[in-house]
Amino acid sequence: MTVLVTGGAGFVGSHLVRRLLDQTEHAVVILDNFNDYYDPRMKRANAALFEHEPRVSLVEDNFRDAHLCEALFARCRFSHVIHLGAYPGVPYSLKEPQLYIDANISGTAVLLDAARRHEVERFLFASSSTVYGRGAQSPFVEDAALGIPASPYGATKRTAELLGFTWNQLYGLAFTSLRFFNVYGPRLRPELALAVFTRKILAGEPLPLYGDGSVLRDFTHVSDICSGVIAALTAPGIAGQSINLGHNEPVQMLRLISLIEAAAGKKALVEFHPPRAEDMPLTCADLTKSRRLLGYEPRVPIEEGVREYVEWAKVG
Ligand SMILES: NC(=O)c1ccc[n+]([C@@H]2O[C@H](COP(=O)([O-])OP(=O)(O)OC[C@H]3O[C@@H](n4cnc5c(N)ncnc54)[C@H](O)[C@@H]3O)[C@@H](O)[C@H]2O)c1
Repeated sequence: MTVLVTGGAGFVGSHLVRRLLDQTEHAVVILDNFNDYYDPRMKRANAALFEHEPRVSLVEDNFRDAHLCEALFARCRFSHVIHLGAYPGVPYSLKEPQLYIDANISGTAVLLDAARRHEVERFLFASSSTVYGRGAQSPFVEDAALGIPASPYGATKRTAELLGFTWNQLYGLAFTSLRFFNVYGPRLRPELALAVFTRKILAGEPLPLYGDGSVLRDFTHVSDICSGVIAALTAPGIAGQSINLGHNEPVQMLRLISLIEAAAGKKALVEFHPPRAEDMPLTCADLTKSRRLLGYEPRVPIEEGVREYVEWAKVG
């Protein structure tokens, strides 16, 4: 059986492909266009981790291209699609909303349609805590009322989920939305707060903090996210569902900074900036459903995960 991993050269994708190799028998096709949202050399280095793996092949192309996808699905007969490819990141989505709409909405529709035409057994979609939006009650419960996404990014993820549920209802495509919460770990995207703070602290430069540092984020280690995704490949009864993959222990940004300071053995110089409208004040996953349906349990405490990340950043 062959699994398509879109965005497999990205941060989460590179960890997930490793886990697929270690924990399943599947062949893996990575479809990634190495876009320049951040330095593509990082993505090339990620993909290079698999260049000698006989079970992994790399297709460097754009999933927005329906002809390409049609040919690829016909040739590879994918049993599963894990759709991680996207324009990620909240602030940039205010600058270039059309890029997000194109990749995250239109691109997802292309893949959904190819998947139903080629009878893919399961389609797992990387959604986000941003779909909960302003007005949602914390902790975020999958089937409670959602708020309005605070960013174009969140709106594109919510729209893509809705398309998936429509394909599930119309064609019986076994689509599941996995809502990732603030994923972190080695090879983290360089524009995310933990990466920026760590670089600045290690370099002895001031770090930018938006707001007063009271913002809370439910940081979830990438290995826990991958465990949830791997469980979703086989768990029964999850088609048509949204499922949180989070940690349920939100951390204030000021605490995150002290954890990095402790791991780096250096003090931070904090430069305060006004809060940004697109930042949610809090993310926090309710895990009742993921525990019940996936047997999911986050294992990596934030102290340990930040220590590991800072060690990686020192040499990376
Ligand atoms: N990292 C997080 O904290 C987080 C949180 C919630 C949700 N997510 C979601 O998880 C997924 C993976 O995120 P990540 O942090 O690994 O991001 P990433 O940017 O490192 O990985 C995404 C990959 O998708 C590729 N890609 C984008 N558009 C493409 C296209 N049209 N065709 C082919 N490839 C394309 C990119 O080149 C990149 O390698 C994304 O869908 C993201 O929205 C991430």
